[in-house]
Amino acid sequence: MMKEMLEKIGKQAQEEIAALVKSSGDLKAEFEQVRVKYLGKKGELTGVLRQMGKLTPEERPVIGELANEVRADIEKKLADAKAKIEDLKLQQQLKNEVLDVTMPGKDFSAGSLHPLTQVLNEVKDIFIGLGFEVAAGPEVELDYYNFEALNIPKDHPARDTQDTFYVSENVLLRTQTSPVQIRVMEQKKPPIRIIAPGRVYRSDAVDATHSPVFHQIEGLVVDRGVTMADLKGTLETVAKQLYGEDARIRFRPHHFPFTEPSAEVDVSCFACGGKGCRLCKGEGWIEILGAGMVHPQVLRNCDIDPEEYSGFAFGMGLERIVMRRFDIQDIRMFFENDMRFLKQF
Ligand code: PHE
Repeated sequence: MMKEMLEKIGKQAQEEIAALVKSSGDLKAEFEQVRVKYLGKKGELTGVLRQMGKLTPEERPVIGELANEVRADIEKKLADAKAKIEDLKLQQQLKNEVLDVTMPGKDFSAGSLHPLTQVLNEVKDIFIGLGFEVAAGPEVELDYYNFEALNIPKDHPARDTQDTFYVSENVLLRTQTSPVQIRVMEQKKPPIRIIAPGRVYRSDAVDATHSPVFHQIEGLVVDRGVTMADLKGTLETVAKQLYGEDARIRFRPHHFPFTEPSAEVDVSCFACGGKGCRLCKGEGWIEILGAGMVHPQVLRNCDIDPEEYSGFAFGMGLERIVMRRFDIQDIRMFFENDMRFLKQF
């Protein structure tokens, strides 16, 4: 009797375990259910073994052995099933998480430097290569530095051309980078060799070539025996590095209150080489900066003796240079931060 029951339990367990592996339900829970059903304290096998007492002494070892065999068999089948279930789970996971290495990667867009920054960096590198240092001054400036010390007194007509944004009577947004000349000369005695790039402000009506904020790059050299020839040589060297070996420069007489003599400087058109084209409006030349020999009074304002020292200064407009370089038609492009524009550089 007990022998048949044990054999029946063994067979039944085997079938259930086999079915378990093929089940689509919660395998872990179902597995546990089967385990408890056969091997648990209240399980079927245990139930049969409890009745061992009713057996004769001769039957006991025989049935005992059989019971152990059945138990061992069920345990082994369960272990196999468990391994199989885990393997199935792993296969499923691998299938779900499969990575198609042939799929195109996700593009991420890296930023780039603003065209003004790019060209400014180039200009800085050129001047640093010539032994210049980079100086800076405040954008909110005193009237004294922006005008007075630069030989532009209160009633001077040159003030009109500057269209100044005033903060108060004596405080303004600098209209040029030239005040940095004064600040540097107050701090440092010759030899001086600096450039000072930065934002400047003028109350101009906005159009394709005018913006209330733009950039200048100031230059200042003061030492014993500095002449106009040094100014020309320096600017020519810079023009060639910026525009190529064929670039030439020319000086046209001009007036600035803080330089004497003064000049406006043109570079030969790098689009047509001087023949005249759309870019230079048929001129063959493009104005790039204002320059001159530092006025003796400006040196004196900074406690530098003009009998002992002389210097040259220049100021160039960065936007103009960049507009010509990249054929940009409208200065407003620089400040509107339109990605379609910026992404081109
Ligand atoms: N500051 C002058 C301007 O804004 C340019 C300049 C600088 C001219 C230095 C001469 C010397 O027009």
